[in-house]
Amino acid sequence: MVYTVTVNPSIDYVLRVPALQLGHINRCSVGGVYAAGKGVNVSVVLKRLGVDSVATGFTAGFTGQALYRGVQDEGVQADFVHLRSGLTRINVKVRAGEETDFNCDGPDIGASDVELLKEKLGQVRAGDVVVFSGSVPGSLPQDIYARLMHGLSDTGAKFIVDAAGQALTDTLEYRPFLIKPNAEELGQIFSVSVSSAAQAAEYADRLRAMGAQNVLVSMGGQGAVLVDAEGGRSFAQAAQITPVDTVGSGDSMVAGFIAGYLLTSDLGYALRLGSAAGGATAAREGLADRSGIYGMLSRIGHVRAVE
Ligand SMILES: Nc1ncnc2c1ncn2[C@@H]1O[C@H](COP(=O)(O)OP(=O)(O)OP(=O)(O)O)[C@@H](O)[C@H]1O
Ligand SMILES: [Mg+2]
Repeated sequence: MVYTVTVNPSIDYVLRVPALQLGHINRCSVGGVYAAGKGVNVSVVLKRLGVDSVATGFTAGFTGQALYRGVQDEGVQADFVHLRSGLTRINVKVRAGEETDFNCDGPDIGASDVELLKEKLGQVRAGDVVVFSGSVPGSLPQDIYARLMHGLSDTGAKFIVDAAGQALTDTLEYRPFLIKPNAEELGQIFSVSVSSAAQAAEYADRLRAMGAQNVLVSMGGQGAVLVDAEGGRSFAQAAQITPVDTVGSGDSMVAGFIAGYLLTSDLGYALRLGSAAGGATAAREGLADRSGIYGMLSRIGHVRAVE
């Protein structure tokens, strides 16, 4: 089974506005209301690619109940710790030519809530995949993913981490199967700016030396680099598309990569399916669907070595 962990999920409320005017009433139309948060997005795209998963993490209040139902409506098993107080956040995404997002604080999460999440993850077995995605809210220790992985280190499960900064680097000692920083997140770790595939491969390799098995660096419309467990460096082009809404493209890439790997055990195919899923999400509002992803796959050329 695949488990996705989203410690701070959200309801995403997408608004379309012809031209955003601060200090005025803006007439808008609703582009969509989605159950979201990074791990939730991964679960949704996995399901669309035929891979079942359990979405876990923390929910709170009536928005948390709505999130729970929204996840189930996507055909994903929802198994969140429901907090006794607070509200799952509603993130407002304003589409007015540019993408303006309001991502608010989530509910406070206490140490006893973390223990309940650990209990839920007690079901994890050898061969399972556990995906830790998203930034860590201030009420939790920044090394929460590392702590959860510590508790699972004897299970034989594979770990995937999509997070930035310390939340990511603290997990490396638990040898995650895959980490997926974007170029900016990768650069921040080493206080450099990463602008080419060769640079991405160089710094990805350093994260590999620090413990990661496979490192996937996404570079938006510039494509993606994979440094694999043997040090092989591959590049996949991004699909040539006009981006419509890029929210969730990184999560879609993680889902595509997992689905591709579980279906074929071929990292090159996983890289291509990940790139296709990221591109298919960027090309539309909301997350990509199955036909969009496979349609995009044929537009992504072969994986090639990074020079
Ligand atoms: N403009 C685009 N054109 C084509 N493909 C894209 C575009 N933006 C994203 N993608 C695809 O999606 C993948 C992930 O995108 P990106 O690097 O923006 O992830 P991210 O920054 O982690 O995104 P997120 O905001 O979801 O965290 C890219 O490697 C690429 O395959
Ligand atoms: Mg990302």
